[in-house]
Amino acid sequence: MLTVVVCVSGGGTNLQAVIDGIRKGIIRNTRIAGVISNNPGAYALKRAEEAGIPSFCVSPKDYKSREEYNKSFLKKMKELGPDLIVLAGFLVILPEEMTRFYKNRIINIHPSLIPSFCGTGFYGLKVHEAALARGVKITGATVHYVDEGTDTGEIIMQKAVEVKEGDTPQVLQRRVMEEAEWVILPQSIDRIAQKY
Ligand code: GRF
Repeated sequence: MLTVVVCVSGGGTNLQAVIDGIRKGIIRNTRIAGVISNNPGAYALKRAEEAGIPSFCVSPKDYKSREEYNKSFLKKMKELGPDLIVLAGFLVILPEEMTRFYKNRIINIHPSLIPSFCGTGFYGLKVHEAALARGVKITGATVHYVDEGTDTGEIIMQKAVEVKEGDTPQVLQRRVMEEAEWVILPQSIDRIAQKY
């Protein structure tokens, strides 16, 4: 059984895709031990609650220093004991100690076809604004392992999505989520879970 902890910051639609994927058997041999958010107002925490999954808010704002936040975040993570950490719309840079301790056991969903439109400053709507500004005809999403860089780890899965005439960043973001993110994140977790 693969034990997963999902880290979130916002709406939690990718978390929901994982919850639903386990329920529907799209993701086999997997359980979510907990959900951790840096944002107390994240709707993702409500989604976890409704699914009966233990959820925790560990916010940098609640600590006097980054080091104290990092320590508390890592302590909570170790208590939950994941085989795999899933970053699903998580907007906080992971403590180096965490990426080291969980080396090759952290994955992230990014809303573009890496290596396009990724790296520092490319998150959420900004990614789609950049894709539209460049005029690409195809974009998509990527699931990759997290290493010490930003969006630089080994790519696990990608899915292409068509950019349509007149797309706004919001419309494109929604299409990329529906047609790519919510498909390849569950599939990637299921693929990893087959080794457990
Ligand atoms: C999505 O665009 C996702 O690609 C990015 O964060 C955004 C919010 O995702 N990683 P969610 O609805 O909180 O899962």
